Amino acid sequence: MAKMAASMVESGEDAFRKIFKFYKRREPPPDFRDVTDFCSGTPGDKVVPAKLHPAAVSDEEAARVGLKPVREWRAFGLQDCPGFIFISNPFLRGSQAFWIRQCLKTYPQKPNICNLDMHMSPSDTQDIWGKSAHVLSCPPGKRPEKTLLEKLRWVTLGYHYNWSTKTYSADSFTPFPADLHALSVQVTAACGFPGFRSEAAILNFYRPDSSLGIHVDESELDHTRPLLSFSFGHSAVFLLGGTRRQDPPTAMFMHSGDIMVMSGQSRLLYHAVPRILPAPPERAASLEDPSPAPPLPQGGVLEPVSDQDWAVISRYIRSSRVNVTVRQVLGPGQSLPETRVRYHHGASDGDGRKRRRSSDEETC
Ligand code: SIN
Repeated sequence: MAKMAASMVESGEDAFRKIFKFYKRREPPPDFRDVTDFCSGTPGDKVVPAKLHPAAVSDEEAARVGLKPVREWRAFGLQDCPGFIFISNPFLRGSQAFWIRQCLKTYPQKPNICNLDMHMSPSDTQDIWGKSAHVLSCPPGKRPEKTLLEKLRWVTLGYHYNWSTKTYSADSFTPFPADLHALSVQVTAACGFPGFRSEAAILNFYRPDSSLGIHVDESELDHTRPLLSFSFGHSAVFLLGGTRRQDPPTAMFMHSGDIMVMSGQSRLLYHAVPRILPAPPERAASLEDPSPAPPLPQGGVLEPVSDQDWAVISRYIRSSRVNVTVRQVLGPGQSLPETRVRYHHGASDGDGRKRRRSSDEETC
């Protein structure tokens, strides 16, 4: 935990909430000096090296999803947090652009579900990218109003998470994207979890003033499988706490390209995102060049990002963060109930996630 923030907490109180508010504060801005930065040379005394399994993923398999050879990854853990793995940007130069394009252009497409479906008709949310791209290419001052892309707050994939009931359901499922599954399989295998099945994902889209409330990801039926988190664009202060709200959280930066794996005891810990920040210059620079170097590997999932698409993506990502969490929902022999409720259109007000955004009490 940040030393200064820790000294503010009294025993027995909701330490997580207090530190969440500390980092969310605008005036005066908080001191970020105690936030663990895994990519700095001296990340802090609680940081320990994490064990990876380089033999589980060949260099070719890694390259096919845009990742460096596993032996080159820099992976860390936290002393009192077994099962938590932080991988500092293992993406090959240029390959983040492909994944960001998938998050902005491909994954928001139907049949996937997004916050805009809560109050717009399917035909209006059919082509979010197409309806936004040309407007986003204009300088901000000349735009009539925010584009649909800028209004996007979340997208769900696979088993679609129901924000109201905090459950998944057998009858709200659409095929999980094969490329994102391939990426998740390689990352989990490298972390010692073979046979991972990507069954649900939540994409969160953050603007500079966004935050994500304190929660535990416990809706999945099998908590023995890891939860994966990929971050792109702006940086975030991520808080990782304990199993109780009185446990003071550790604050850490998540930068573009960073991956977190929450497994074992860390799988059910409280966490939150109180703050979005501009990416440090070296991370922003790593996003500048969309053409992968060396050239795209054969048989991989990556495709080149056109200059036209990149013009839109780079303008969007200059002031936004995208986070993707991938989950395996079911263990062996488990199944979800059918709810026969189509919750996604008109069944919820606002963005459907409003309570989680504005409250710091939520679990999902
Ligand atoms: C994040 O945006 O880094 C966290 C997302 C989540 O906990 O669902």
